[in-house]
Amino acid sequence: MGKMETIAVLTSGGDAPGMNACIRSVVRTALTKGLKVKGIRRGYAGLLKEEIIDMDGHSVSDIIDRGGTILYTARCLEFKQPEIQQKAADILKKHGIDGLVVIGGDGSFAGARQLANLGINTIGLPGTIDLDIACTDYTIGFDTAVNTAMQCVDKIRDTSTSHERVSIIEVMGRSAGYIALWCGIANGAEDVLLPETYDHNEQKLIDHINVLRAQGKKHHIVINAEGIGDSANMAKRIEAATGIETRSTILGHIQRGGCPTAIDRYYASIFGAKAVDLLLEGKSKRVVGYKNGEFVDYDINEALAMTKTIDQYEVDLAKWLVR
Ligand code: ADP
Ligand code: F6P
Repeated sequence: MGKMETIAVLTSGGDAPGMNACIRSVVRTALTKGLKVKGIRRGYAGLLKEEIIDMDGHSVSDIIDRGGTILYTARCLEFKQPEIQQKAADILKKHGIDGLVVIGGDGSFAGARQLANLGINTIGLPGTIDLDIACTDYTIGFDTAVNTAMQCVDKIRDTSTSHERVSIIEVMGRSAGYIALWCGIANGAEDVLLPETYDHNEQKLIDHINVLRAQGKKHHIVINAEGIGDSANMAKRIEAATGIETRSTILGHIQRGGCPTAIDRYYASIFGAKAVDLLLEGKSKRVVGYKNGEFVDYDINEALAMTKTIDQYEVDLAKWLVR
């Protein structure tokens, strides 16, 4: 490998609060260690259009407390094509970019793997509110998103209690139930429906609502994961079956924005610095993670092959705490 002189950073896939803190850390760590840094706007789509800008220490000023990503992000389906990946690798080489930091999810890492195979040193950093990356216990944005969702559920709970309603609250997570499970426990929800465990036995849910109502419960909060969806129809069916007024709320993209928590700023900053250090050590095709209390890195193939399941004890706990 030649000497590492210039690196670039991009964000790809869904944005997540803390991505800016991560970009800032990549840029300033790299500058501190004598590298030049470029930012690539709009993920792989922007790379293909050569949307490449020089970054200096001030280009990342005043962003640590901002959600979203100053580099913008995009999904770029054509990046799955080998000839398009070759074009991207050629563009990176043309711009003198020796190393690339990709902040995103598994899809973005698959793209980074292809670029690594074409001779670009790449490091992936887990950035997604979904927490659905198997090689890490932490992903940039999850903490902020789950706190936002929790606060929204608290607010809905006030009105749900006042009207003595059932409230179905749908939270994001794509096909993973982490935001839902965390809200289930942190909000003290009466029911949590997770894609990983839900048996689609709606009668059981209806019976549970009726039992708790008979015991005097004034509200019934159901956290429904996006991977199950159908919240509006579910609310109609539950109201018809129980006779209790039922409303549904889909929290949606509100969960993706906002001021990142201390955890998201802190861990994202460490991820960014670790990526630069790995590139300086001559490493490529790695994903940084936080596993069992330590910052670690894995080969991208190994990382993408890992699987993660929701913790059954925590799923059970969400039920035990309901009275
Ligand atoms: P995430 O990175 O959050 O998982 P996506 O799955 O949408 O989000 O992937 C982000 C981008 O990564 C895609 O739009 C595409 O440009 C790229 N990508 C996804 N899968 C692949 C793949 N198999 N090969 C190459 N690039 C991919
Ligand atoms: O991956 C993050 C995420 O917010 C998922 O929770 C959700 O399924 C998806 O992205 C929504 O994507 P879009 O912003 O394209 O609607």
